[in-house]
Amino acid sequence: RRVAILISGRGSNMAALIKAAKDPTFPAEIVLVMSNIANAGGLERAQAAGIAAVTIESKSFGRDREAFERAMHDELVRHNIDLVCLAGFLRLLTPWFVQQWQGRMINIHPALLPAYRGLHTHERALADGVKIHGATVHFVVPDVDAGPIIVQGAVAVHETDTADTLAARVLEVEHQIYPQALRMVASGQTSIIGALCRATGATA
Ligand code: GRF
Repeated sequence: RRVAILISGRGSNMAALIKAAKDPTFPAEIVLVMSNIANAGGLERAQAAGIAAVTIESKSFGRDREAFERAMHDELVRHNIDLVCLAGFLRLLTPWFVQQWQGRMINIHPALLPAYRGLHTHERALADGVKIHGATVHFVVPDVDAGPIIVQGAVAVHETDTADTLAARVLEVEHQIYPQALRMVASGQTSIIGALCRATGATA
């Protein structure tokens, strides 16, 4: 399985995936890192790891989201990509793009979905006084942060936590569960069809 990772920033989850994929038993190879932001920190890290790193600047497409996504899609197809991992990719994707990759695109979200979809998850968890928080890897569907769940990791919330300390502990969990989830999807151990059937009680 040939994997592309889409980033917008520092790429610490990307780095965790690259590291895990070095294991000879890992069922996927990371062959492409794509950023929608020029000079995203993760790009240099990808290059240093010997992985093709490409920028397709969303900014340069202005409001034309479809043209931006078509450029990304073409690049993915050019690299014969089977699976796409969103890792801190800060652009909402249109239903068109999601449908092209449905079942073959996964995302990491810094909360225990279905709680805290969207932004500022750590601040909101602290404001609610929850005692358990965490991260989720899920299949991407057109609805944001709503796709079938693949793996979750939990952390205890401490009395003394700030959004930053909590984010740092959740990030450690993210780095563990993202490689685990990619392994499951790439090896066929889980699929979006299987997950949807489990959720509805139907048989595949
Ligand atoms: C992570 O917290 C991820 O869950 C969220 O954005 C952050 C990206 O961090 N979607 P990094 O670029 O992987 O370091």
